[in-house]
Amino acid sequence: MEKKVLYSAVQPSGNLTIGNYTGAIRNWVALQDSYECFYAIANMHAITVRQEPAELRRRTLELCALYIACGVDPEKCTLYVQSQVPQHAELTWVLNSLTYVGEMERMTQFKDKSARHAENINMGLMDYPVLMAADILLYQTEIVPVGIDQRQHLEIARDIAVRFNNRYGETFRVPEGYIMKAGAKIASLQEPTKKMSKSDENLNASVFLSDDRDTVIRKFKRAVTDSGNEIKATEEKPGVSNLLNIYAAFSGKTVEEAEREFEGKGYGEFKLAVGETVADVLAPVQAEQKRLLADKKYLGEVLSSGAERAFKAARKTLSKVYRKIGFYQGE
Ligand code: TRP
Repeated sequence: MEKKVLYSAVQPSGNLTIGNYTGAIRNWVALQDSYECFYAIANMHAITVRQEPAELRRRTLELCALYIACGVDPEKCTLYVQSQVPQHAELTWVLNSLTYVGEMERMTQFKDKSARHAENINMGLMDYPVLMAADILLYQTEIVPVGIDQRQHLEIARDIAVRFNNRYGETFRVPEGYIMKAGAKIASLQEPTKKMSKSDENLNASVFLSDDRDTVIRKFKRAVTDSGNEIKATEEKPGVSNLLNIYAAFSGKTVEEAEREFEGKGYGEFKLAVGETVADVLAPVQAEQKRLLADKKYLGEVLSSGAERAFKAARKTLSKVYRKIGFYQGE
């Protein structure tokens, strides 16, 4: 039986946090045997906010190396850079004519980013969900593992697929979301009711995958806890709950097991244990990423064979789309 197609992508902008690891990349590894996976580095999405060109290029390779260091196997999956497959831009243009300005203006992320980048509310920022729909629909994707913040974008991708199919006949598979459960919601260490974010201005709020051991441990030591001294995951204790959740995600234990382990212990000892556990998991990933980054030739080969495979799959869908909408494709 043919495997179902799974698609996901991460933008090469900003430093990835431990939330990106537990909520996305680590799950991708678990899924790569059961699905035909396409994993992209979404650099076309990244330029909707200003990027330093040299940095964008560097981060693209860093992200590629990170995927592989985390266990994404480029032999099993199609790992590629979005801009190297021109069909993404081409399909976006077609889908643009089926998407309404009002729909895009109502998107939560567009409103948030417009507020944050008021000096640069560009067309790309507004069109971001259509490009994401093109990403997904080009590969006849069935499953899209995403974090909760991307759910609205996935809904729009489904709406656009249905709209196209209704107007021109069955063309796109309508994708399903797959909202990650375990470790999906890692909160800020400083304001534990907020999501941990790549772009938080408070540098102690987020733990980055690139943080060295001392930095990781220091950030956890400074993490906000709650009043009282019990180490229990309850609604009144968002700080402690978040730390327990992180500990569970990084140790492979359940939250209940973690609660038992730290029963009667103090916050200081608990926070140190969480920091050390996270640092222990990150160390080999960082070492492997560094090793891979020293081998640009290998990374280049991975990405060019990934782009080639993606290109072939994408060309098939785009050619069908062009036929359906009446674009001349030669005799
Ligand atoms: N917008 C997604 C994010 O920032 C990244 C992304 C781009 C994506 N294209 C995608 C995710 C297609 C899933 C499917 O997280």
